[in-house]
Amino acid sequence: MSKAPPVPEGDRITVCEVGPRDGFQNEKVFIPTTRKIGIVNALFASGLRHMQVTSFVSPRAVPQLADAEEVLAGIDRPEGAHVTALVPNLRGAERAAACALDAVHTVVSASETHNLKNVNRPIERSLSEFEDVIGTLKAAGIAVEGGIATAFGCPFEGVVPAAQVGRIARRYQELGADSVSLGDTTGMATPLTVRAAIRAIREAAPGLDIHLHFHNTRGVGLACVMTGLSEGVTHYDAAVGGLGGCPFAAGATGNICTEDLVYLLQESGYETGVELEKLIDAARLTQDVIGRSLPGQVIKAGPRLKRHDPELTVKAAG
Ligand code: COA
Ligand code: ZN
Repeated sequence: MSKAPPVPEGDRITVCEVGPRDGFQNEKVFIPTTRKIGIVNALFASGLRHMQVTSFVSPRAVPQLADAEEVLAGIDRPEGAHVTALVPNLRGAERAAACALDAVHTVVSASETHNLKNVNRPIERSLSEFEDVIGTLKAAGIAVEGGIATAFGCPFEGVVPAAQVGRIARRYQELGADSVSLGDTTGMATPLTVRAAIRAIREAAPGLDIHLHFHNTRGVGLACVMTGLSEGVTHYDAAVGGLGGCPFAAGATGNICTEDLVYLLQESGYETGVELEKLIDAARLTQDVIGRSLPGQVIKAGPRLKRHDPELTVKAAG
């Protein structure tokens, strides 16, 4: 008996690039603002239209993103661009409301210990502050994506029950969020936990749009995407080159890689609106700026039908 329904031909999937936020926040050396803007513009040039460009957090917590306002003021926004940023509290919402943003990603963790480490307050305090946060954003015409970090497991507490994810999703729905985004902060998601979380949300908060945000820490990020697709989820976050990781979670490593995700989706018959070759160019630029090679795989191998010149390939002797 086959469990997954057949892949629908030509369906549109939203790929949201989060490298400039989730990736850069983990880089120790400050990336000059103009280089950040250059990478964002190269990513938009590949056809990507959804991007989490920065975050409005304490510059002491994340010095790398202290230039949020300057980055947002400096980027080119192609037609159809959907620019978002991460916000943890009311101060962040007020900063976001003063910038031209399409959406904001709020953040609370599904586990107490990670929420304390990440935003220095209990879950309940984050959620009660979100009433004003969401009110402020909505008044500025900004959509809200309710982020739930450690949705598939916590590096400090272990198992996170799917019912807890469902409960927070329901609070977000009651507060007026437009969607929820399930964050796999330290790559603990598996096909089974992904399916359980999606189904728990559909039960607790019917009709709420679900976005998925996987890290490839244990090598099963794209397998989790396949589970999301089979459950009908059409929005996935990924970071160029596979950059990424949360500085406030032990053992966190990169997001799933945008080029690898786009490659998988295109080869599975989905539309992403992205030109893979141009996305690989943006990934190369990112590697140059960061100064090291990134874990993505398509950047190394190229598209599937890339032809190699036989004359330039070594011939085995004997
Ligand atoms: N933007 C800029 N500065 C902010 C801010 C924001 N959104 N929120 C708080 N601050 C400043 C305050 O003005 C204050 O500055 P001061 O000491 O110079 O007066 C300082 O930060 C402390 O403020 P407080 O409200 O006491 O916050 P806190 O120390 O409890 O920290 C957070 C809470 C949420 C601000 C902080 O933990 C944070 O920014 N976390 C971000 C985590 C993150 O980005 N994680 C990765 C993404 S999941
Ligand atoms: Zn993340």
